[in-house]
Amino acid sequence: SARRPVIAGNWKLNPKSIAEASQLLKLLHANFVNHRTPAQLDVEVVVFPPFPFLLEALLVLQGSGIKVGAQNVALQTSGAYTGEVSAPMVRSIGVDYVMLGHSERRAIFGESDADINKKLHLCLAEPGLGVILCVGETEDEYESKLLASVCDVQIRKGLKGVSISDLSRIIIAYEPVWAIGTGKVATPEQAQVAHTVIRNTLTDMYGYQAADSVRIQYGGSVNPENVDSLMSMPDVDGALVGGASLTADAFTRIVDGAI
Ligand code: G3H
Repeated sequence: SARRPVIAGNWKLNPKSIAEASQLLKLLHANFVNHRTPAQLDVEVVVFPPFPFLLEALLVLQGSGIKVGAQNVALQTSGAYTGEVSAPMVRSIGVDYVMLGHSERRAIFGESDADINKKLHLCLAEPGLGVILCVGETEDEYESKLLASVCDVQIRKGLKGVSISDLSRIIIAYEPVWAIGTGKVATPEQAQVAHTVIRNTLTDMYGYQAADSVRIQYGGSVNPENVDSLMSMPDVDGALVGGASLTADAFTRIVDGAI
């Protein structure tokens, strides 16, 4: 397809210090600058460090072609909301993407589809800001054959009110919860089935042409050894990488495997 592959690294609550973050960023920069840039590879590459490391990431990754994203934003844009970080704030420092709806946000921090949709609209109000919208079923839901209905509902509620023109700013990440951090990667065929479900929902909402251009990443125990077979599936357009994105060489090899 004409869809440009996109590999994202979700650092989650890691590493422990700016010193360690800076080291990882410098190694990534070296790999991409001295090796091949994402532009040459025609793969889009984004890393999602924790908020305190975003500025350092933007500085250190200059010239590498690697973009920087934020893992979350507030439900508000400004005001008396102690401890929050807004979409306009992250955009103002040069962040290109925000990740929304990760299963850890949903399960641990109680984010609803309505919350995620509200955050999505706040991100879309910031010119130039893109979003990775994560969806996926739990193990129980998978075993109860609810994959299709869970993903369908999360896509419909997450994208509620999003115009067809803004759809091009959104990447979908399919992450089966049972595959996250478990080493239990979905088979390429399982990923393809889920991605087809998601693209069918998008087609129903936006029509074939718009849905066909949306990139859908797979996430859950992606590593340098399995990325190639996952990416060989027609509707797998990239990967959202957790654990393996914390090692510069592993992450670089995943990007290489996405070519
Ligand atoms: O956002 C990333 C995913 O949750 C996958 O994490 O690669 O450590 O399984 P993982």
